[in-house]
Amino acid sequence: KIIPVILSGGVGSRLWPLSREHFPKQCLPLTDKEYSLLQQTILRTQSLEVGDPIIVCNEDHRFLIAQQLQSIGVKNARIVLVLEGRNTAPAIALAAFEAMLDPSDDAIMLVLPADHVIRDIAAFEATIKQAVELAKDDALVTFGVQPTRPETGYGYIRSGEHFAVVEFVEKPNLEKAQAYLDSGEYLWNSGMFLFRAKAFLDELAVHRGDIYQAVSHAYQQRTEDLDFVRIDATLFAQCPEESIDFAVMEPTKKAKVVPYAGDWSDIGAWDALYDYADKDADNNVLLGDVMVEGSTNCLIRSESRLIAAVGVQDLVIVETADAVLVMDKNNAQDVKKVVKRIQAEG
Ligand code: GDD
Ligand code: MG
Repeated sequence: KIIPVILSGGVGSRLWPLSREHFPKQCLPLTDKEYSLLQQTILRTQSLEVGDPIIVCNEDHRFLIAQQLQSIGVKNARIVLVLEGRNTAPAIALAAFEAMLDPSDDAIMLVLPADHVIRDIAAFEATIKQAVELAKDDALVTFGVQPTRPETGYGYIRSGEHFAVVEFVEKPNLEKAQAYLDSGEYLWNSGMFLFRAKAFLDELAVHRGDIYQAVSHAYQQRTEDLDFVRIDATLFAQCPEESIDFAVMEPTKKAKVVPYAGDWSDIGAWDALYDYADKDADNNVLLGDVMVEGSTNCLIRSESRLIAAVGVQDLVIVETADAVLVMDKNNAQDVKKVVKRIQAEG
């Protein structure tokens, strides 16, 4: 049985003013009118033979997430709550302990970030099925995506025969990323993983015994109410902070990579959402009550008022009840700076 594990940490501050501390991007219906990224992620797994999902998220988002699960008919999810994230290695380890609670159940975890969009469900399913066969033999399976630019925020995988991972390099510098891209021998790590819970924990114990111990300790002191599994905050705060990529995927000899040829994108900022969305004849993405004259290449989203844009190019305009963003689309990464200032200046 496959247990979907959804990583729902973070707020996605580059999507301000839509994303807020109490309303993170994965809970927003960003690419779909009806479903949030989190809901789409869970729905994507439903045609595979899956058990009840495990969601690892921040305490602040528990009711929002519980309600979003309920509204898509997911009743028996286990929602693992932490007060402060320690990056993905500890988060996945918590989920692994939770998945192993039922010892009769030799759980295979399908780890999915809550903020990816995939349209090609058939390709996704076929790839997962291929990976399950490898995971049965204790492989830690990653999904490799064909790279298209020397992105330094991703992991790179050099693949060999029979799904072998010859090398896994997380977030290389630009020079290396360019060399990997030019060589044609590397794939991007998609950020999705599939493995037996025990196989992952065993490898974590080998390569990062400190993280394994700290998570095991914090997990043992959990409390449970309703669907929520609350992790002891003091103990979890002592866990070293590290991603699965650095902690396990780089050093392990048990990694395998299955190529994933379907579409895949990480909606991290407004320009990525623009790239992903369907455009009109003037290359605009217009959402809500929006009117344009002589404007091109814009993303304009209105929530509560009419927006009219005249003679502008390459702008992102996002209106909400209490804040409006007007930005050159090429500066999409800098929204973070605004959010930092708002936090600092109150
Ligand atoms: N619950 C929880 N707790 N979730 C977390 C935490 C945490 O402490 N930290 C991160 N996450 C979630 C994020 O919300 C996201 O959904 C996912 O885990 C991945 O974390 P990112 O911080 O977005 O990782 P990244 O984008 O830098 O790198 C990863 O993804 C790339 C592809 O998007 C790596 O796996 C790369 O190798 C990969 O290429
Ligand atoms: Mg990411």
